[in-house]
Amino acid sequence: MAFQRRRHHERMVTAARMSGMTAISAAALFIFMVVAFLTVLAPPLVDHPSFPNQPEHSRRARRSSILLENPMEVKGKVSGGEIFRVPNGGDMQGSDIWESKGSRYFYGCSNASKEFEKADAIIYPDRYLMISTSGGLNQQRTGITDAVVAARILNATLVVPTLDQMSFWKDASNFTEVFDVEWFISSLSKDVKIVKELPSKGGKVIATPYRMRVPRKCTPRCYQNRVFPALLKKHVVQLTKFDYRLSNKLENDLQKLRCRVNYHALRFTDPIRKMGETLIKRMKSKSKHFIALHLRFEPDMLAFSGCYYGGGDKERMELGTIRKRWKNLHESNPDKERRQGRCPLTPEEVGLMLRALGFGNDVHIYVASGEVYGGEETLAPLKALFPNFHSKETLANKEELSPFMPFSSRMAALDYIVCDESDVFVTNNNGNMAKMLAGRRRYFGHKRTIRPNAKKLYSLCQNRTSLTWDVFASKIRTFQKGFMGEPNEIRPGRGEFHENPSTCICETKSEAGSSAQVQQRVELKDGRDNLSKSDALSGYDEQDWGDWDYGETVPVGKALPNRTAVDYDHFLKNEDTDLEEFSD
Ligand SMILES: *[C@@H]1O[C@H](CO)[C@@H](O)[C@H](O)[C@H]1NC(C)=O
Ligand SMILES: *[C@@H]1O[C@H](CO)[C@@H](O)[C@H](O)[C@H]1NC(C)=O
Ligand SMILES: *[C@@H]1O[C@H](CO)[C@@H](O)[C@H](O)[C@H]1NC(C)=O
Ligand SMILES: *[C@@H]1O[C@H](CO)[C@@H](O)[C@H](O)[C@H]1NC(C)=O
Ligand SMILES: *[C@@H]1O[C@H](CO)[C@@H](O)[C@H](O)[C@H]1NC(C)=O
Ligand SMILES: *[C@@H]1O[C@H](CO)[C@@H](O)[C@H](O)[C@H]1NC(C)=O
Repeated sequence: MAFQRRRHHERMVTAARMSGMTAISAAALFIFMVVAFLTVLAPPLVDHPSFPNQPEHSRRARRSSILLENPMEVKGKVSGGEIFRVPNGGDMQGSDIWESKGSRYFYGCSNASKEFEKADAIIYPDRYLMISTSGGLNQQRTGITDAVVAARILNATLVVPTLDQMSFWKDASNFTEVFDVEWFISSLSKDVKIVKELPSKGGKVIATPYRMRVPRKCTPRCYQNRVFPALLKKHVVQLTKFDYRLSNKLENDLQKLRCRVNYHALRFTDPIRKMGETLIKRMKSKSKHFIALHLRFEPDMLAFSGCYYGGGDKERMELGTIRKRWKNLHESNPDKERRQGRCPLTPEEVGLMLRALGFGNDVHIYVASGEVYGGEETLAPLKALFPNFHSKETLANKEELSPFMPFSSRMAALDYIVCDESDVFVTNNNGNMAKMLAGRRRYFGHKRTIRPNAKKLYSLCQNRTSLTWDVFASKIRTFQKGFMGEPNEIRPGRGEFHENPSTCICETKSEAGSSAQVQQRVELKDGRDNLSKSDALSGYDEQDWGDWDYGETVPVGKALPNRTAVDYDHFLKNEDTDLEEFSD
């Protein structure tokens, strides 16, 4: 593994260096990619494009690797003499592939109602709430958002949250190094009083924090029953491992407060935002639209989730070895996991899905990913499908990235910014970042967000060898209905609030709109009234979303620390397992 990781790292460094090449050699590379691409697509689809630095024998030596038993690689089983061949161009005639037509009738609305009292009126002077978050950047983001609401529920002053520096990703950054703390405090001043640290009297803090933990999805009543008595007695309460500790359902004003925190008050520091904007500018200079893909395919994640991708004994052994790091993991049933849509799609499957949805091979794609199991070899089919393949390492040089490089949260923040600004955001997983960005993009006007219907796509990819491209693509389009980020795709109240902030999404009430507008609104209304009958919606509801909450992207090549099962809390199917209780 160590060898593979190092090799992968070297490649990424090479890739980064290549971004600095002259235009001429870049053009040469482009031609090479096109040729490689055409070679790959020559019927029947047989092999990966060969990379110049990968000798023939090494490719053969890796015969048992993850991809070679993948259906895309299987030769000559196509029935009826037709061939599974991905056409070059896109299929976007008259379609609204880059944005949802219905989206313009919706907007984010998170202002407080008149009844919502100002912070000054409800805060008690001797109540302080401290929280320490848990997990990667986006898991911490839910914690910070919910902490503000918890302070409001308790009429307490919030101390700026402490970030998790011990988690899986071991990032020593504190709050002020990741988020704009002055903006955070000032923009929420009407809602909740926030201070940078506990006040002190004569050089001593007013009280020692009383540490406790609330259950997951704790309701306001639960806060009042469990935390409030401690707060009265001790004046300072610190809630630990604070993530997903607040109920999904809350009264409207509290939900809207959640949105004000998450979508307005919580922004990254200036250096992070500036670098993020630079990356976006570079993507936009390449083409009018771009796709951002958040790809999770780390060996650890695959091992932990017990997934198997057809790489034979080699893969079983590698992932099995990693899997042994965790005690108490039940025997996995990889086939079942994938059948049930609990495994991330492979890079190749994501690429095929996007091409089937109508994105052509000329589309530019930004890929946010950590270490990919199998490295370049696993990525090759995706790069063949989308030769205009970018990442922060190819868009920016080492010097530009160096202030962020050692900090996984800051690197993840850059990806967050670019993914957020993309025209189309797509994931191969359902982790925290995927959920968080899906919710955010709904709030800011239903920007196109594609979530793979993993269960259906897996089965379809299994059958790929007996299908023509046209049939395959048409099935993908059918299966993806309801997973494209259209308005009203998920029923209000379904899923995590941060993923589906329905209370904060309003529909325009234009009375005398054009006829098209009226018709659109009627359609939407029908859709809503007939929710349970709609295929698209029931597709979403039926989906047995696995919990892929595991962390965020990590800089490629960074040595990963040892883990404990605790880091994978959210991975477990049952959120309220005892595991959490013995985790610290
Ligand atoms: C929300 O409040 C802001 C600032 O007070 C105001 O500019 C905006 O128009 C309000 N939005 C709505 C929908 O009322
Ligand atoms: C917080 O303040 C409001 C308004 O004064 C009050 O209704 C509520 O009971 C208070 N809650 C707690 C936990 O003190
Ligand atoms: C955060 O880290 C910076 C740099 O290490 C340090 O200057 C600052 O005091 C820290 N802030 C807090 C609140 O710990
Ligand atoms: C794949 O093939 C199997 C067996 O022929 C069939 O039961 C299943 O429905 C097919 N899946 C899809 C998504 O077409
Ligand atoms: C719901 O769907 C049925 C048929 O599927 C249709 O007859 C009915 O009018 C729809 N309901 C509404 C409120 O549009
Ligand atoms: C990680 O685990 C290995 C083997 O169990 C051990 O040798 C190594 O010291 C550990 N590293 C850390 C940082 O704990």
